[in-house]
Amino acid sequence: MSTDALPAAEPVAATPAPAATAPRPHVVEFTKVSKTYGEGPSAYTAIKDVNFVVEDRVDHGEFVSILGPSGCGKSTILRMIAGLSPQFPATSGTVHVFGKPVDGAGSDRGMVFQDYTSFDHLSVVDNIAFGLECRGVALAERRAQAMQWIEKVGLNPGTDALKYPHQLSGGMRQRVAIARTLILKPRIILMDEPFGALDPGTRYAMQDLLISLWREQQATVFFITHSIEEAVYLGDRVLIMSRAPGTILHQLPMAHSDRPAREMQRDPEFIRTVFKVRDIVDELEKPATA
Ligand SMILES: Nc1ncnc2c1ncn2[C@@H]1O[C@H](COP(=O)(O)OP(=O)(O)OP(=O)(O)O)[C@@H](O)[C@H]1O
Ligand SMILES: [Mg+2]
Repeated sequence: MSTDALPAAEPVAATPAPAATAPRPHVVEFTKVSKTYGEGPSAYTAIKDVNFVVEDRVDHGEFVSILGPSGCGKSTILRMIAGLSPQFPATSGTVHVFGKPVDGAGSDRGMVFQDYTSFDHLSVVDNIAFGLECRGVALAERRAQAMQWIEKVGLNPGTDALKYPHQLSGGMRQRVAIARTLILKPRIILMDEPFGALDPGTRYAMQDLLISLWREQQATVFFITHSIEEAVYLGDRVLIMSRAPGTILHQLPMAHSDRPAREMQRDPEFIRTVFKVRDIVDELEKPATA
């Protein structure tokens, strides 16, 4: 595995540090994590010896983009962090979140899927308020918060709140899905190809929205995508996985820009970085016999 460009680990103090400067547990830590689905002759190892650490940096949740060939185990890794079966639990190795082994789903982690997971029978406002209802928040309070979130994700509280999912475009439904997750203020946001089905213009707008919400919430984000441009634009770090059984081959640090996604597509430095990452990905996707 390449260790390119990862910052060196902090030296460990020889004497116990005062409480105020005690090391914070890592946000997520994978140690030699493997997953084999099934048993006997049909057993299939999807990921093997996956290792990475996301540190808990003061006032900065890291944005981690994940790239890799189809079937290499990206969703497997994300769902293990979420504590969702059958990906969770790992067959071997350990997955720690905030210093503790994952033992199932938890409200510190929120997931946004590609297919706009909303309830068809609930209006926009009730879909967004749903998680608060599960937490026992009173009706007036959860509706008020949901209305604020409708606005935050760029929908119109006046005209969109009472619509149902089938009355919304793909971009609008994805805004609802993001609001449903972020209203619960998870410390870790897990996104599995959330913008894969959107047209380029809507996709850039959603990338800009996500960046502004992420800056506001300071959450750690794991973001799976097949778009190299998207991974480079959004990520503080891009993880590149091998073919199955997937493992992490490269961890590339990225520079963030304050400029909108659409504008960045023409930036020479951005284009150079995209080509560099594309060369690595193309190399990985070459047929083994070529
Ligand atoms: N529940 C399961 N039972 C058996 N095999 C599974 C299961 N879930 C995933 N797999 C297999 O594990 C491998 C990795 O799957 P995973 O969904 O993690 O890949 P991925 O990288 O997210 O792919 P894609 O980019 O196509 O979404 C695939 O070969 C898949 O068929
Ligand atoms: Mg997947």
